[in-house]
Amino acid sequence: MKITVFGIGYVGLVQAAVLADAGHQVCCVDVDAAKIDNLIKGIIPIYEPGLTDLVEKNHAAGRLSFATDAATGVGFGEIQFIAVGTPPDEDGSADLKYVLAVAETIARYMDSGKIVVNKSTVPVGTADRVHARMAEVLADRRVDIAFDVASNPEFLKEGSAVADCVRPDRIIIGTDSDHVEARLRELYEPFNRNHEKVIIMDVRSAELTKYAANCLLATKISFMNEMANLAERLGADIEAVRHGIGSDPRIGYHFIYAGCGYGGSCFPKDVQALERTARQVGYEAQLLTAVEAVNERQKSRLFEQISHHFNGDVTGKTFAVWGLSFKPNTDDMRAASSRVLMELLWQHGAVVQAFDPEAMEETQRIYGHRRDLRLMGTKEAALSGADALVVVTEWRDFKAPDFEYVRAALSTPVIFDGRNLYDPQRMEAQGFDYYGIGRGK
Ligand code: UGA
Repeated sequence: MKITVFGIGYVGLVQAAVLADAGHQVCCVDVDAAKIDNLIKGIIPIYEPGLTDLVEKNHAAGRLSFATDAATGVGFGEIQFIAVGTPPDEDGSADLKYVLAVAETIARYMDSGKIVVNKSTVPVGTADRVHARMAEVLADRRVDIAFDVASNPEFLKEGSAVADCVRPDRIIIGTDSDHVEARLRELYEPFNRNHEKVIIMDVRSAELTKYAANCLLATKISFMNEMANLAERLGADIEAVRHGIGSDPRIGYHFIYAGCGYGGSCFPKDVQALERTARQVGYEAQLLTAVEAVNERQKSRLFEQISHHFNGDVTGKTFAVWGLSFKPNTDDMRAASSRVLMELLWQHGAVVQAFDPEAMEETQRIYGHRRDLRLMGTKEAALSGADALVVVTEWRDFKAPDFEYVRAALSTPVIFDGRNLYDPQRMEAQGFDYYGIGRGK
């Protein structure tokens, strides 16, 4: 099948590459000419395991093409994916200007029937707005061309985006049209082989499904962070509690890790956006407000512990920070907990020596101007002469360091572990002052 993807960000690029690899013809369109030029040369704008090879292979095979010219893109695909960003506007609502601009573009250039598919995370009702905007443009053009707008939200996770797309848990298709259902079933047939993953529903339910999934996952995390803060005050260990509750299949082990807060481009934005959507329809989503508030507080937790340990004075102290990306296997620093920690440390006169396996360039781009930030080439170098080690992201490389080395390299043997990677008793036995999240101190 022939597909056009508008918006070559995370979702668009991964989806395009995976669909091309399954044998479809995919044309990627983005207004960013530099990005498209780079993609043609095989330069991928994000770090995502497996993606570069997939893009190169399918580009070379002629199944994946790149363009900046919207008319070419509209002419190409029977199916037109909208995968552009929906950044939060001033009040936290999702800003639909890019989505609606693509809708206008499609309607302006189309000369045959199209299926328009929303892939971006968009508020409930967006498909209706896309439909209305396209109908206006077609009316202005005085042409009568049939089109449908469906919702097909994406559930990929950064760091395992390619694998998530190739082996989706479910394929949600929001449409009331038999024709759209049949065409999208055919599109996803290569990914729907072992058991039925396609779930058909009405458009608004599909749109809400995406928010409900992310908000429930965020809720699990904030709930565990709340329990961790209680555990600290009650002398309990959140890791034991996690084991204890996760064994109940109704609860499960996924997404119940307490830590220094969730970040990334999805959870913080989507929780806020659904909260605003609720307000717009006259409903106070109290749980979502709490999920967000708990997360905001949790992002300062490491700094609170540090400040308490150093009796409120970190001026002139140096902190080794391991992990800057919002989670492992990505270089994405959007809403990362490391940023809150470092900014608080800097505000209080401390110096940061940071290392991350992938996010050094991104950190340089954001904070390169700072004199109180030293970007170090290895995790060992980051320790050198520091007053404490702070672990913010659970990269595999940080899970079993040489603790003898760590103790010798630090000027004082203190570890603040924002992801509960280490065993508190072992740390104490090795002579460290150790702070985890929800683990007694
Ligand atoms: C999230 C969802 O997991 C995807 O299903 C969804 O498709 C995606 O958003 C999206 O809407 O595009 P992602 O933002 O890539 O994916 O990252 P997650 O793996 O969900 O992690 C989010 C944050 O939660 C990270 O900061 C992570 O450290 C934190 N987290 C996760 C915890 O603090 N505890 C946990 O138990 C799990």
